[in-house]
Amino acid sequence: MNNSQELSTFSHEINNSLTLIYGQIQYIEKTNDILTQNEHWNRMKDDFSSLFDFIHQFLAPEDTTSATIEPLDLINLISELRSSWSYYLHKERIRFFIQADPGTAFYVYGAKSKLFQLFHNLISNAVKAIQQKEEINRSPHITVHLSKEQGHIVLNLSDTGIGMTPEQQSRAFYRGVSFQPGGNGIGLSIVRKIAHELHIKIHIDSAPNQGTTFTLIFPAYEQKLNYLTHTEALTK
Ligand SMILES: Nc1ncnc2c1ncn2[C@@H]1O[C@H](COP(=O)(O)OP(=O)(O)OP(=O)(O)O)[C@@H](O)[C@H]1O
Ligand SMILES: [Mg+2]
Repeated sequence: MNNSQELSTFSHEINNSLTLIYGQIQYIEKTNDILTQNEHWNRMKDDFSSLFDFIHQFLAPEDTTSATIEPLDLINLISELRSSWSYYLHKERIRFFIQADPGTAFYVYGAKSKLFQLFHNLISNAVKAIQQKEEINRSPHITVHLSKEQGHIVLNLSDTGIGMTPEQQSRAFYRGVSFQPGGNGIGLSIVRKIAHELHIKIHIDSAPNQGTTFTLIFPAYEQKLNYLTHTEALTK
């Protein structure tokens, strides 16, 4: 990947995170009127805006080597993400379900920051797809369903959004391909890259006006151990 691509990836991801933080700030302010009179609060908001501008102007390339591989509980991870998105979910009246077989652990190996990036992009797309669907009496929702199949953890992330044609599905992962006004077409290329790095298989199942499901199949435990051994060997 060349430097300008790394830069735009970095910009895209920082933008995603700052947008979420800004959402939380707005939510806190909305539920605590008195804050707008608070000098420190207003100062903090100004500083946040300056940081936003600064980052847009002077971006540094992402350090991709620093991510630590660790065992992660997918239910915790998805719950954390749901909290981060709570402002936008609430604003758009989108319900977010997490479904998993009771009593089953869903641990995967990965770098937390990478998995966060991957799911942020999928959730961001799901929210946008729902926003684009104009329908009266709709009950928009996003569902994450976790199961185990032949030693593999399978995660389905579904939305009730606008959906995609087969042609769109076949091109969506390419960098720069977007079917939305104002879209950069970067999100899914990042998802694909991270999935490749973490040996996660990913595919789309979608139909126009029906919604979209992304299926992620995580590597089986033994494969992960091989992967870790291989990574350790490389770092020695
Ligand atoms: N859940 C989804 N439902 C419907 N269409 C989707 C969904 N996810 C992705 N797409 C389609 O795939 C295209 C590519 O997605 P991608 O995330 O790469 O780019 P983007 O969302 O347009 O821009 P950005 O760079 O801001 O993420 C989108 O423009 C959208 O048309
Ligand atoms: Mg996107």
